Amino acid sequence: MSGALDGKVAVVTGASRGIGLAAAAALRDRGAQVVITSRSEERAKEAAAQLGSGVAGFGAHATDETAARACVDHVVATYGSLDILVNNAGTNPAYGPVIDQDHGRFAKTMDVNLWAPILWTSLAVKAWMGEHGGAIVNTASIGGLSVAQDVGIYHVSKAALIHLTKQLALELAPEVRVNAIAPGVVRTRLAEALWQENEKQVSAATPLGRIGEPEDLAEAVAFLAGDGARWITGETLVVDGGQLLGSGPL
Ligand SMILES: NC(=O)c1ccc[n+]([C@@H]2O[C@H](COP(=O)([O-])OP(=O)(O)OC[C@H]3O[C@@H](n4cnc5c(N)ncnc54)[C@H](OP(=O)(O)O)[C@@H]3O)[C@@H](O)[C@H]2O)c1
Repeated sequence: MSGALDGKVAVVTGASRGIGLAAAAALRDRGAQVVITSRSEERAKEAAAQLGSGVAGFGAHATDETAARACVDHVVATYGSLDILVNNAGTNPAYGPVIDQDHGRFAKTMDVNLWAPILWTSLAVKAWMGEHGGAIVNTASIGGLSVAQDVGIYHVSKAALIHLTKQLALELAPEVRVNAIAPGVVRTRLAEALWQENEKQVSAATPLGRIGEPEDLAEAVAFLAGDGARWITGETLVVDGGQLLGSGPL
């Protein structure tokens, strides 16, 4: 597999840990130069150093247009292109029934999970991909394909992201492909509430017998970003160990 992305330049938002960091490693291992972002420049640079050569860090809150533009401009100026964008940064501050949420938590969820992918896509397309082509992968969730108690607002944001993936795929073809992954429960900080206290039960309810690891998702991101997916756009690839099949935890 090494070398499949030789010469490509990728940005992965929200990648100081978890799925984003694993995806960055997978893209780098296939030959891409990767820039990872975090809300903190220090965390972004630390994480990049952890992965070693071919990975650089950039501090940019996903919804901060000035920082996002600075990142995209920096990437094109420094590496000469921007071929792959992984809109991975996500948040879930709104636990509990939908009717108990306030506008602040709703707006934060929608801003990070839905507006940021639009913002970064717009910047990447206008700076490079619109003219030269590219591939975009959005990190959605199986929550966007199902309903569950207590994470309703988050699930609504991810359902909208899945629809946004199709809309952007239509608008940006043929130059840019836009796809998404829909992870099940993965061992990361963001999802701790879903697995930390009850990993055995979640694993037992998962047809493939365990919760996900960030690396399980990284392979799917690399596939959708690469030439092997050259005739795929607007799709959402479920990567969940079978959790969505019926008896899963979500
Ligand atoms: N884990 C799961 O079970 C699961 C399931 C379905 C979907 N997902 C999705 O997977 C994506 C990655 O989450 P994860 O599970 O890997 O969580 P994670 O390990 O907690 O990582 C989240 C990453 O996003 C960054 N981040 C958070 N808010 C940000 C913002 N506003 N701007 C820029 N970066 C931001 C964090 O970095 P800093 O803290 O350094 O800023 C961190 O690197 C999210 O979109 C999430 O919704 C996760």
